[in-house]
Amino acid sequence: MKIGLLGHGVVGKGVSRICDVSKTLQVKRILVKDDWELTDPRCTQNVQDILGDPEIDVVVECMGGIEPARTFLMKAIQNHKHVVTSNKKMLANCCEDLFAEAEKNNVSIHYEATCGGGIPWMASLERILRIDPVDSFRGIFNGTTNYILSRMDLESLEFEPLLKEAQQLGYAEQNPSDDIDGMDVKYKVALSCMKAFGVIPVLDEIPTYGIRYIQKKDLDYAKSKGMTCKLIGTGIKKEGSIEASVLPVFLKKEDVLANTSMNFNAIESDSATLGKAVFTGQGAGSLPTAHAVVQDIYDIENKEAMEYPSLQEVTVINSAEKIFYLRSKQITDYADILDQQIDAETYLTKKISLDDLQKKIQEDKEIFIAEVQE
Ligand SMILES: NC(=O)c1ccc[n+]([C@@H]2O[C@H](COP(=O)([O-])OP(=O)(O)OC[C@H]3O[C@@H](n4cnc5c(N)ncnc54)[C@H](OP(=O)(O)O)[C@@H]3O)[C@@H](O)[C@H]2O)c1
Repeated sequence: MKIGLLGHGVVGKGVSRICDVSKTLQVKRILVKDDWELTDPRCTQNVQDILGDPEIDVVVECMGGIEPARTFLMKAIQNHKHVVTSNKKMLANCCEDLFAEAEKNNVSIHYEATCGGGIPWMASLERILRIDPVDSFRGIFNGTTNYILSRMDLESLEFEPLLKEAQQLGYAEQNPSDDIDGMDVKYKVALSCMKAFGVIPVLDEIPTYGIRYIQKKDLDYAKSKGMTCKLIGTGIKKEGSIEASVLPVFLKKEDVLANTSMNFNAIESDSATLGKAVFTGQGAGSLPTAHAVVQDIYDIENKEAMEYPSLQEVTVINSAEKIFYLRSKQITDYADILDQQIDAETYLTKKISLDDLQKKIQEDKEIFIAEVQE
């Protein structure tokens, strides 16, 4: 099976390394951007050398960003090539068009590496769905924030120095916004909803809160109650809608997700006959992520059936009432929903839905919120 690789960074290099020792997979061409990357005779700066090569069966996209990744994959599909991508941002934003085009051209789109890095999460969902509808999932989908939260919890450290350290170690990007503001998890929640429930939520409707404003004292409070803080992505299937969110949650220490530390990811599904099942492993990194990409290529080689989900957009409604931890400089503005005071800026709320809470706090740009597990 001949492969054209778009992008030769962290994931792309892992993909070529694994394929180069495979008996049946051959990376024929590699698209790179800069002259200094033309180190391998297979490298090219002209995407047509891949998209226009009739010998190439599969185009693997590991470039990141929406454009030109989307356009390149669209052209690959139109040229009857199967595609594999690790790019959650592009796929979560453009999946409807890409799937429609893939169906028209009778080729497949595989995207295991977009969620949970090396964890076979999408493949596990597919296997569960052969028997059960999936009712819900929740999980730690981002290794960078889990690394920071674990160190804050274990070593009683503040957020800022840990973020800098994560950047120096290469765990966090120089612009860490997608990780710490929860966008990365939002894309993964959307793609998981697509696979698990056969629907695509409107991205802007998924309430998304990250850990940018977390402080050591928030973790100290959670700890004092026998809890820890994790950034959790959730999806729950409802009649005619879904519940979906990304937000910090104070989890009881006995919760399986509370015990997933450092840069590991863990995702739990719930379905009728399997019940709760937890999938855990390396959520990122060159070889674990490339492993997921190459598994997709093997599925294409083995002609695993590709389904084209009928992707209706679905409304996201978060109406379940919960208790939230709020810390804000303008906490007194929320007097009518506050219950137990923790300090001058920090309260637990009365039970309130995330939708109602979101309406109240939408102008408060520096608020830290966490759901408190009951
Ligand atoms: N890293 C992980 O652990 C991980 C895990 C799961 C999913 N992913 C996803 O996988 C994708 C790739 O991530 P990565 O970590 O491998 O990123 P990366 O290290 O930045 O690699 C991307 C490579 O693609 C190149 N590129 C970008 N646009 C290009 C273009 N138009 N033509 C040719 N080359 C181009 C980049 O070149 P320049 O650097 O010169 O721009 C870079 O070398 C992203 O969508 C990411 O979200 C990554």
